[in-house]
Amino acid sequence: MPMNPDQWIDVVEDRFKYRLDHFVIPEHYSEDVESILIPHGLIMDRIAKLAQLIASEYDERVVVCCVLKGGHQFFSDLIRYMKKALNKQGKTVPMTLDFIRVKSYENDRSTGTVHISMSDKELRDLKGKNLLLVEDIIDTGNTMKRLLETLAQYELKSIKVASLLLKKTPLSCGYVPDYVGFAVPDLFVVGYCLDYNDIFRDLDHICAISDTGKTKYAM
Ligand code: HPA
Ligand code: MG
Repeated sequence: MPMNPDQWIDVVEDRFKYRLDHFVIPEHYSEDVESILIPHGLIMDRIAKLAQLIASEYDERVVVCCVLKGGHQFFSDLIRYMKKALNKQGKTVPMTLDFIRVKSYENDRSTGTVHISMSDKELRDLKGKNLLLVEDIIDTGNTMKRLLETLAQYELKSIKVASLLLKKTPLSCGYVPDYVGFAVPDLFVVGYCLDYNDIFRDLDHICAISDTGKTKYAM
């Protein structure tokens, strides 16, 4: 079921595109991106707020799990803010940090198969724990849906998902994460660790890739 746009109202909406010549872009990507959707400073300000919100909802230890590779930058900035945030009892939240590798995209398309890197033993060790998955983007939602279906077999105490971006796409399977930074238009986005065939992770702003970029870095 495609998502109802009303469900996106409570996340920060993209309102405009920023011109490339108004921000610093690495010279090696100057032809490869079309526009800036979310400048780096705005990303950081939003993560500071998300960290407060998330921390306020945990009163015991949480396993914060980075979904690699795209989630890495969001994960490291989010936990840095979460370490300083307080929960409803006015206490800091104890965190255990973990990592999972999930891969399903080639070029700008989902391959349909999801590879998960955690062993059965590692998954069984999550039993009874609170898990917060930290993801860069929910696009169709199929990757996260499959990951959650896998995790559902391991008797965790709670599972929540924080995604920096939620794409407004008619291809959405209807999955909505617990915490979202920004809703983005139905474009292929790169930067802030989001990639196109592993390129663009070294770009600080979240940008729309250009046709030149898509062709240059196609597999
Ligand atoms: N950009 C980068 N990675 C992605 C995207 C995107 O738009 N959608 C799903 N994975
Ligand atoms: Mg991802």
